[in-house]
Amino acid sequence: MISKKLEHAINEQINAELFSSYLYLSMAAYFSSVSLPGFASWMKIQAEEELSHAMKFFDYINERGGKVTLKDIEASQWQWNTPLEVFEHVYSHEQKVTGLINNLVDTALQEKDHATNNFLQWYVAEQVEEEASADEIVNKIKLMGDQGNALFMLDQELGKRAPAQPASSDEE
Ligand code: FEO
Repeated sequence: MISKKLEHAINEQINAELFSSYLYLSMAAYFSSVSLPGFASWMKIQAEEELSHAMKFFDYINERGGKVTLKDIEASQWQWNTPLEVFEHVYSHEQKVTGLINNLVDTALQEKDHATNNFLQWYVAEQVEEEASADEIVNKIKLMGDQGNALFMLDQELGKRAPAQPASSDEE
């Protein structure tokens, strides 16, 4: 059975993952409003992926005999000025999430809960990818400078991202 302290910390993380989903959905809406459908599609898939991160925690709490409690989700920012500003925001947000995951690992270790530490390692690896993909897109946008053509090409490239896999507690 999971400790109350970890149950509380993971419930907080479910809220943070749902907020991430909300934030990226908001970014998708922004990209749709400025006629960048590929960027919008990428963000919608990212929002789905964040929902699957929340669900993985949700299933884990239940599996360990804990109780899921869902709190209010903070409202998201909905306006940005440029695609670069959006992806810099994604990058800094993911760095913040990495910090939250690291804190959860610290708590699991303090509680001597090795199963939860093991479970969290999936997220530790995922955060490396999340930061790398945001950083890569930031760099691509910076390289483009003011070339509208390059923005069009990047929009096409991002639009090819495949949909997220359905949420599953067995996902590894
Ligand atoms: Fe769920 Fe983007 O971290």
